[in-house]
Amino acid sequence: MAFQQRVFSGVQPTGNLHLGNYLGAIVKFVALQQSHDCIYCVVDMHAITVWQDPVELPRATREVTAAFLACGIDPKKHIIFNQSQVAEHAELAWVFNCVARVGWLNRMTQFKEKAGKDRENASVGLYVYPNLMAADILVYRATHVPVGEDQKQHLELSRDIAQKFNNDFSASIAARGFGDAFFPQPEPLIQGPATRVMSLRDGTKKMSKSDPSDYSRINLTDDADAIAQKVRKAKTDPDALPSEAKGLEDRPEAENLVGIYAALKEVPAADVLGEFGGAQFSTFKSALVDLAVAKLGPIGAETKRLMGDPAYIDSVLADGSNRAREIAAQTMSAVKDIIGFIRH
Ligand code: TRP
Repeated sequence: MAFQQRVFSGVQPTGNLHLGNYLGAIVKFVALQQSHDCIYCVVDMHAITVWQDPVELPRATREVTAAFLACGIDPKKHIIFNQSQVAEHAELAWVFNCVARVGWLNRMTQFKEKAGKDRENASVGLYVYPNLMAADILVYRATHVPVGEDQKQHLELSRDIAQKFNNDFSASIAARGFGDAFFPQPEPLIQGPATRVMSLRDGTKKMSKSDPSDYSRINLTDDADAIAQKVRKAKTDPDALPSEAKGLEDRPEAENLVGIYAALKEVPAADVLGEFGGAQFSTFKSALVDLAVAKLGPIGAETKRLMGDPAYIDSVLADGSNRAREIAAQTMSAVKDIIGFIRH
């Protein structure tokens, strides 16, 4: 069965958005608007799988929304909303808790990393987090999911859940006229020059909101001075830049800065090396500061401006939630019929 193409993705409202989120995800969200119907969700229910301060959570939810808007996502042509306003996500997640197998979840590397040594004390929500993620995507029967590398395994689980649901209920699905599959197999969209933006302090670690050093990342709301300072202090090695990609091998910091420059400028890394091969890092960093300030400065400023108008942000989320709920409710009604739940 052919499914209508639809894009869905989610961003957690925890901590500040940084360059890694921007180049790894949001840039793609913006581009996909040209070719697809897109639904972008601020996943506040995923956020509470680890403790969130109830004063900080709404601020972070509004900030992700403001950043979506500032980066150029159109909330009229597409949908921007926060997950907790559409109850169908939680409802479908329960069904998926009963479809997914414990053995599948036990293989999830992100749970192991996040739960750490004290696994007994992790929330149950953190454990079933991938089932909620599958529900986010499949409640819209979305076909394409732009995500970072780290979410690939969760996407595979979503596909497994979709497939098992389709198999387990195949007779009921067919009897209701949905053919041989009710849910599509959602495809990850991972390509792009800088899917992995690394820490400015350690080129082998991902840029992360949880790194204790703010110098490890460029936040989307950093001003020009902060961007300049962080780029100038970024770790490098003593050699000049190479003129070919091979020369970046075993030089993770150099590779990262070149990758960031290429992604911000939207050119292949080879072009950047062609221009800066043989140059010292001081020269390259000055160019990177100018480029980063030119690209990110306006986004940061617009995000801050929007944060000054929380009523407007909340109205965007309310409108998006209403439109999302219409789609999600249709899926949920069909799912209830397929499973055999009585509804009036
Ligand atoms: N787990 C994703 C992350 O941490 C966020 C997320 C939640 C998501 N639901 C989703 C991403 C659905 C894509 C589709 O980055």
